[in-house]
Amino acid sequence: MTRRSIGIIVNGVTGRMGYRQHLVRSLLAIRESGGVTLADGTTIWPEPVLVGRNETKLRELAERHGLTDWTTDLTSALARDDVEIYFDAQVTQQREKAIRQAIEAGKHIYTEKPLAEDTAAALDLARAADAAGVRTGVVQDKLFLPGLRKLKRLIDGGFFGRILSVRGEFGYWVFEGDWQPAQRPSWNYRAEDGGGIVVDMFPHWHYVLEELFGRVAAVSCVTATHVPERVDEDGRTYPATADDAAYGIFELDGGVIAQLNSSWCVRVFRDELVEFQVDGTEGSAVAGLRRCRAQHRAVTPKPVWNPDLPVTEDFRAQWTEVPDNEEFDNGFKVQWEAFLRHVVAGEPFRWDFLAGARGVQLAELGLRSAREGVRVEVPELNS
Ligand SMILES: NC(=O)c1ccc[n+]([C@@H]2O[C@H](COP(=O)([O-])OP(=O)(O)OC[C@H]3O[C@@H](n4cnc5c(N)ncnc54)[C@H](O)[C@@H]3O)[C@@H](O)[C@H]2O)c1
Repeated sequence: MTRRSIGIIVNGVTGRMGYRQHLVRSLLAIRESGGVTLADGTTIWPEPVLVGRNETKLRELAERHGLTDWTTDLTSALARDDVEIYFDAQVTQQREKAIRQAIEAGKHIYTEKPLAEDTAAALDLARAADAAGVRTGVVQDKLFLPGLRKLKRLIDGGFFGRILSVRGEFGYWVFEGDWQPAQRPSWNYRAEDGGGIVVDMFPHWHYVLEELFGRVAAVSCVTATHVPERVDEDGRTYPATADDAAYGIFELDGGVIAQLNSSWCVRVFRDELVEFQVDGTEGSAVAGLRRCRAQHRAVTPKPVWNPDLPVTEDFRAQWTEVPDNEEFDNGFKVQWEAFLRHVVAGEPFRWDFLAGARGVQLAELGLRSAREGVRVEVPELNS
């Protein structure tokens, strides 16, 4: 068996996503499970090169995992021949510049979403990468969630008949940072630092809607900054300048209407932090991160509106759990494995920079809809 080592720059590895999901749960987990094995028996073996701004943090993090390859000098890391992939999990605002540098260095590139801060920049990155002949990928982790995989199985199996609508609720209460520390970084709440829930979540909603239900043809969106003042990591009060809630309606090709609420100012009275209800002529389903429950037309009860009587039915009990039928691995890891196969063996990978640019476009048009108070059509984006 041949082992094919591949050097991967992990930039922004000290951050929440870079460390937990990409280094520990993906790249190191791939090594723990013996690498990614190709059809010819070759094993792809990721060799992370940790890149960041803070030497102390990098050294401590590397030692914690028995790693030795780290640097604060991105340019020198990009100059190495044994490094073939550049991965970016930095704050969004730093991404475009670093990706351009990686394209110029001829590296294949995988990145967290959003790909860039606006559509023009994202499209330009897609074109530059194409022209340089490097392979690209953007994280679309929600597609690999067990709940959404089971939902996709129901769709592919024809369970719903004609799908009518999708209702999604995403969110939880993010503490303001005064009497309890906030559980998200403060830059998320400052527009000038690339924050905002539309920029954060609409790229996700874009690929979820497109892959499961159809292309987004139009968006109408209302945003709010419900909590105007927050307290940062250093205990300083700052004005929240970015949207912390977005109430969006998405019209899809084929007629499905999707209504998705995203909020960091909502207390959870749901079973999971995100849930989608899909209603179709033949059946309905509610999918979350892990669970998916369904109700078929033939077993749908007949509620009758009567406010004079207390509710006698246990509505939640009338749904059937969709079985796993397979083992679900961490979604970030599954997508990393697919990207590594793409780079090393040329296997197809459709979540490229152009797909990422479409996610950025939906965020941009969602914000425009909110700003101008209008419904905005979403033009096709082509390379
Ligand atoms: N796929 C997902 O579900 C998901 C979830 C959350 C965040 N993200 C994305 O991941 C990226 C990182 O988000 P995060 O929540 O890990 O953020 P974070 O603040 O925890 O980490 C940011 C990283 O960027 C680095 N950085 C580089 N330049 C910086 C600068 N000038 N200022 C501040 N930090 C700088 C930090 O050192 C740190 O390593 C964002 O682009 C975000 O959109 C994706």
